[in-house]
Amino acid sequence: MPVRYGHFDDDRREYVITRPDTPLPWINYLGTEAFFGIISNTAGGYSYYRDARLRRITRYRYNNVPADTGGRYIYLRDNASGAYWSPSWQPTQRKLDSYECRHGLSYTQISSAYLGIRAQTLYFVPIGETLEVWRLRIRNERDEAARLSVFSSVEFCLWNAQDDAVNFQRNYSTGEVDVSGGVIYHTTEYRERRNHVAYFACSEPLAGFDTQREEFLGAYRGWDRPAAVERGESGGSIAHGWAPVGSHHVRLTLAPGETREVIFVLGYQENPPEGKFDPPGSGVVQKKGAEQVISRWLRPATVTDGFEQLRESWTALLGTLRVDTPDADTNRMVNIWNPYQCLVTFLMSRSVSLFESGVDRGMGFRDSNQDLLGFAALAPARARARLLDLASTQLPTGGAYHQFQPLTKRGNNDIGSGFNDDPLWLVLAAAAYLKETGDAGILDEPVPYDNEPGSATPLYEHLERAVQYTLDRLGPHSLPLIGRADWNDCLNLNCFSDTPGESFQTTVNRADGSAESVFIAGLFILAARELAGLAQLRGGSGDGYLAAADKMAAAVVEHGWDGAWFRRAYDYFGNVVGSSENDEGQIFVEPQGICVLAGVGVDNGIATRALDSVRERLATEHGIVLVHPAYRRYHVELGEISSYPPGYKENASVFCHTNPWVMIAEAMVGRGDAAFDYYQRINPSARESLSELHRCEPYVYAQMIAGKEAATHGEAKNSWLTGTAAWNLVAITQWILGIRAELDGLRIDPVLPAAWPGFTATRRFRGATYEISVRKPAGLAGRASLVSVDGEPIEGTLVPPAAPGSTVIVEAIVS
Ligand code: GLC
Ligand code: GLC
Repeated sequence: MPVRYGHFDDDRREYVITRPDTPLPWINYLGTEAFFGIISNTAGGYSYYRDARLRRITRYRYNNVPADTGGRYIYLRDNASGAYWSPSWQPTQRKLDSYECRHGLSYTQISSAYLGIRAQTLYFVPIGETLEVWRLRIRNERDEAARLSVFSSVEFCLWNAQDDAVNFQRNYSTGEVDVSGGVIYHTTEYRERRNHVAYFACSEPLAGFDTQREEFLGAYRGWDRPAAVERGESGGSIAHGWAPVGSHHVRLTLAPGETREVIFVLGYQENPPEGKFDPPGSGVVQKKGAEQVISRWLRPATVTDGFEQLRESWTALLGTLRVDTPDADTNRMVNIWNPYQCLVTFLMSRSVSLFESGVDRGMGFRDSNQDLLGFAALAPARARARLLDLASTQLPTGGAYHQFQPLTKRGNNDIGSGFNDDPLWLVLAAAAYLKETGDAGILDEPVPYDNEPGSATPLYEHLERAVQYTLDRLGPHSLPLIGRADWNDCLNLNCFSDTPGESFQTTVNRADGSAESVFIAGLFILAARELAGLAQLRGGSGDGYLAAADKMAAAVVEHGWDGAWFRRAYDYFGNVVGSSENDEGQIFVEPQGICVLAGVGVDNGIATRALDSVRERLATEHGIVLVHPAYRRYHVELGEISSYPPGYKENASVFCHTNPWVMIAEAMVGRGDAAFDYYQRINPSARESLSELHRCEPYVYAQMIAGKEAATHGEAKNSWLTGTAAWNLVAITQWILGIRAELDGLRIDPVLPAAWPGFTATRRFRGATYEISVRKPAGLAGRASLVSVDGEPIEGTLVPPAAPGSTVIVEAIVS
């Protein structure tokens, strides 16, 4: 019997974790706009405002032991016996009589019972606010009165999370707080250049509080046994330097059967610089703004309404597409969890998770563009704004910074530069947005380069420059130069490193680097064809781009085809990478996926040959590995890839991001069984029964699953922040179910597994609602042969856009 840690509750759109000791902390995200946090199934995690590096509100220590300590902790204490415990299990780890964590869409609720006291804490960030609510409900299930103490606790981060983790000589002296009216304000650096504070408030009259960590915990103690909780009495400490915390103490007496509600609010408040002190010049924090917000959110009715509003916003968002297929794992992922993960990747890019510390990375240019492929349909207005932000960081050469900081929106080279695939993803993202919305006006929107005032050109020109960037950088085989790397960050063909610990991403990139990428060639073909479509939308012909795409496709066939699969690259010395000529790393998945996606060889059998090679050499029961055979030696000429042990990360793990490319490619060549088979292999819900092996959350995709040459084949890592989310949503909804927005309408082109009898779906598209049903005899593979709209057969499979507000009945028959 597989060990289970929980189950899905599809009706409530929740994953229910039923034991606290999951293989890894299973986390969720709070916040959808400006105030964010991660929260684990035992209440671990942290919060921040907009930028996890520059505006960290609470402290979290990564790679700590025991795992996942530091969070939003509540302690309960039975004042008669002195027994105390954590209703979220951590950090005291007292064995609870019952435990349940429900991770929902942007909220988490943890419930437990111990010593006859039932506790339920709901954590969420209300829409439109820069705060999080913890609503604690306590019920006395004993048959006598219970005298209890409730302690809250957070540890404040001194804003800059990077500095906070290293600069102790300063930071042990700067911490400040202000406690007023029962509210704990974290005011470090407010006296000088910061105009923002964090606050922590409680709905009940306080028996006490603490703000100095060592006073609350006691010397040499951890969060598992705070001295204040043990003795049942706060110290009333005021932090001067060291480590400011926030802890409230509330005493409650509950009659048998009585339930009480205690609300805690942790928030972020910014004051106008000229009015930051009250009275002016006093050095005392102006609290009027914060106090108003706090008093509102400490009211139970506000919390109930705010939570309802959050639930409704998710219902609306998920209304974009609802499917009913014969496969429960598909329905659950498409209707709930996959779009949710797309929102999270849209918000976080690759910055905040249990594997990304929020310090190292901002928003990745290539990553955020790909995230839009999954997100554009869900919230087009937000996608539009993001697209323009991304384009504003583009360089005048058409090139791109590899990342930008969300707070400043300015690009930087902190994690490297010169990844030659980067600019092309902007074209794909723009095309996806346009197909979804038809908003051609965005192409004329003036957008600066590198955020320089006065440099603006229409967005369309940015896309042209992105494509031109590749054409300006072709190598000896007329294939695109790779630069520092392409999508595969670890294929560093022009930057050799033999110095231990040196970053491959920032070490010197040879100026004369002539390594070429077949992957970028495929991506270029795709982008150039998309751009041709946009050119036509603006009344042009797009012919130049179509010709450039064809020329590149010819170069791929001439120099990028290895006989049975697409090659990966040519290295600095002109040697081929990803070929039967190599002893290791003979076949890579990326060019097989992307070249077929770009249409190379679809009409002459090359595409199916490449896909057959994928199946023979790369497919495993846990997904498709990135490369085979894995590199066992360190190849200085290949870069970071061979620095990973075989089977992990880019060195032959199932790097999940690439798998949907193969699914799409299989669908393009009409092989629905193969496409869906690959989809299921990495579908987290379908892997739920493997949780002991998989270890990561069963409700979201992970970046990687250890490959067949790894010691831990099948074990997932780096869950949540991965392009896998967007691409899988694209693969299953647009190519397997075949409901695909195009510039001129909604394409209905399913390529289903043979066993299915069809499916139904509701799709919102440009303001109209499409009720779609696809029917086919079970056992038959094939594409739709007849599509009708409101009962009338149409020519082909493209349903033209309907009037906003209307409902359209679409039927497709596969025969
Ligand atoms: C990570 C990066 C992404 C890159 C991939 C492959 O997921 O965020 O940008 O394409 O690794 O190296
Ligand atoms: C990508 C890869 C990772 C690599 C990193 C380089 O995110 O997934 O393996 O270490 O880039 O910074």
